[in-house]
Amino acid sequence: MNHEDMNKLLKPKSIAVIGASATPGKIGYTVLENLQKSGYQGPVYPINPSATEILGMKCYASLADVSGSIDAAVMCVPVKLVNACAEDCGKKGVKGLIVITSGFSEVGRKDLEDELIATAKKYGMRILGPNIVGTLSNSDKMNASFAPFLPLDGKATLVTQSGALLIAMDAATYTRRVGFDKMVSIGNMCDVDIADIIDWLNDDPNSTCTSLYIEGLKDGRKFIKSGRASKKPIIALKSGVSAHGAAAAASHTGSLAGAAKVYGSAFKQAGVIQASDLDNLFDRTLALSLMPPLKGENLLVITNGGGVGVLATDAAERYGIPMKFAPKDVQDEMKKHMPEFGSAKNPVDLTGMAGTEWYTESVRFAISHSWVEGLIVLYCETAMTNPLEIAKGIKQAIDEAGQKDKPVTVSFVGGEKSAAAMAWLVENGVPAYGAPDLAVNAMAALREYALLRETAKEPSYKPNDAARKAAMKIISAARADGRDALTEIEAKQVFMAYNLPVTTTELAKSEDEAVALAKKIGFPVVMKIVSPEILHKSDAGGVKVNIKDEAACREAYNTIIKNAKAYKADANIHGIAIQEMAPWGTETILGSTNDSTFGPTIMFGLGGIFVEVLKDVTFRVAPVDKVQAVEMFDEIRAAAILKGARGESPRDRKALAETVEKYSNMISDLEDEISESDANPVLVYEEGKGLKVVDARIILKKK
Ligand code: COA
Repeated sequence: MNHEDMNKLLKPKSIAVIGASATPGKIGYTVLENLQKSGYQGPVYPINPSATEILGMKCYASLADVSGSIDAAVMCVPVKLVNACAEDCGKKGVKGLIVITSGFSEVGRKDLEDELIATAKKYGMRILGPNIVGTLSNSDKMNASFAPFLPLDGKATLVTQSGALLIAMDAATYTRRVGFDKMVSIGNMCDVDIADIIDWLNDDPNSTCTSLYIEGLKDGRKFIKSGRASKKPIIALKSGVSAHGAAAAASHTGSLAGAAKVYGSAFKQAGVIQASDLDNLFDRTLALSLMPPLKGENLLVITNGGGVGVLATDAAERYGIPMKFAPKDVQDEMKKHMPEFGSAKNPVDLTGMAGTEWYTESVRFAISHSWVEGLIVLYCETAMTNPLEIAKGIKQAIDEAGQKDKPVTVSFVGGEKSAAAMAWLVENGVPAYGAPDLAVNAMAALREYALLRETAKEPSYKPNDAARKAAMKIISAARADGRDALTEIEAKQVFMAYNLPVTTTELAKSEDEAVALAKKIGFPVVMKIVSPEILHKSDAGGVKVNIKDEAACREAYNTIIKNAKAYKADANIHGIAIQEMAPWGTETILGSTNDSTFGPTIMFGLGGIFVEVLKDVTFRVAPVDKVQAVEMFDEIRAAAILKGARGESPRDRKALAETVEKYSNMISDLEDEISESDANPVLVYEEGKGLKVVDARIILKKK
């Protein structure tokens, strides 16, 4: 990303409005009027072939008539004129195109977008849009959009794929009292995308938090990279999280990988905090833009009401920052600012008698104390107290304590006076909310940010050329055979190339060969049909387990062949796999899909009902290393089972983490080849006893 070019696009020193119009109500009029009203300091050049003056500004028939240089052009002409105007821009030396015009790829006219991209490339221009509302910046006094006004001034930046949402949020900043420095409508992202804006904002002193509304990313991996490298918190609201499209997937993993799960995991890997809805996006943005991260989990709650204190305690547990009792010295000090019947434990209940002084003293002490890592101050409006005075006392205490690295969130529960006091707090840099739950949720966002900064790291991954070469031999042979599904034996050979602990499996082409192999492997064995046309082997009666001796082996051989032929008469039967019968262990499943946005992704869960019924699985964009694998184990609802629940000994999570890493390397190395794969089940034994991949499946990308 060239920073200078991005500055010219998003912080232009001079702007042309192409398609400026003298007719009120037209977008070309509104954009011009907005630039004027927002107090934009640089020169503005209205361009219109038939006007001489608009809104008191000299109007130019064409860009060529302008003598000064122009950084950015806002396009307000119909789609059929955009490319010719872009060409004029290039010739004039314009560097940024802010293309408001609709009618491009969003309505199937990707060709027009490609033309525009080609023109921009030819002249070294960057494009914002097309199909956008424009871009707004308080610090640049620039409303280069058709949104009605600049948002309430603040420290966040909103980047949104929905222009209508920008307009709605712009107005709502005033009623919600959440301030933004910038709002950027990103539209079709034909050139500049969300990741570019995240990168660019790293060096913007006016923006402390990036707030995203995402409908769908184009380049998921670029986004993860920018998210990880961001120096500022990023919060995202993702819409369109239904599992549409997943149902048709061929593998188990494919059917479980809905957009919500994959995006959720990608956000984690990118270090991006999530918002659950629009309200939550506003609330969390407020805290993230004003407060530092919550570095630990020692949270203190100060309140004048027991009820709101309990509500905050419940919320803290719900949001993953459970409350602890305060240490004795904190309690002793707190007792000085409350009557006998108060409670100093945590929540610290100063009681309804608490006035400004008690609040101020206790807040100042709490923030200064080394045990306290984050503070939530709650207040219920009483007849004896003045909410604004309490607010001022809290702010004074925060300032006097001088601890800039500890977050504070506030909730005032009451009427108009409380609302006014909270507005004052927000204006003075303290996030305040109308309900205790919201103050806790905001604090949880600050905790998530601290945790994500630790965990959202690039995994250690090195392509394994030797393994890839060995795997490619098997894959190429299957392709030469005209197949895109590997047989179990072939899939296991690919797994083995990556050192994955698969059960010994060999192919028998006759009854006698079956007996010989079973003896070599050692009874009991499992016998399975091997046919590219029969992927669901059990459904076809193609699997027999616990074959204990030669007679049973011969019988199973014949039964399986008979069943397979009955299931699919023309199936091409390679033979029967004779497989080591692994001792039973905790059933887990690993899987992979190739996501259209993020590329190879990996899934982990417990097998059986956990995956079939509860869909208790978790995803990551591959590659992942052992550390991230362990995070995955801890994320599923049934995490306790692997740790050794209900008197069972803990499972070999170390071996499992190694297997996940190897599996993830395999699907990353073979990204261009593998479309989906499963290792199901993977039987995990007691600590130190390893695991076995019992069944393996690989479906190749169609070429
Ligand atoms: N250079 C400069 N101006 C030109 C021109 C040229 N080569 N050719 C024509 N114009 C002028 C027109 O004369 C007109 O000015 P006028 O009012 O003085 O006649 C002005 O450009 C605009 O053209 P017009 O044909 O009136 O278009 P419009 O204003 O009806 O619509 C758009 C233009 C861009 C607003 C419309 O095509 C569009 O895309 N609307 C959707 C925008 C949107 O919703 N974006 C996404 C939000 S999420």
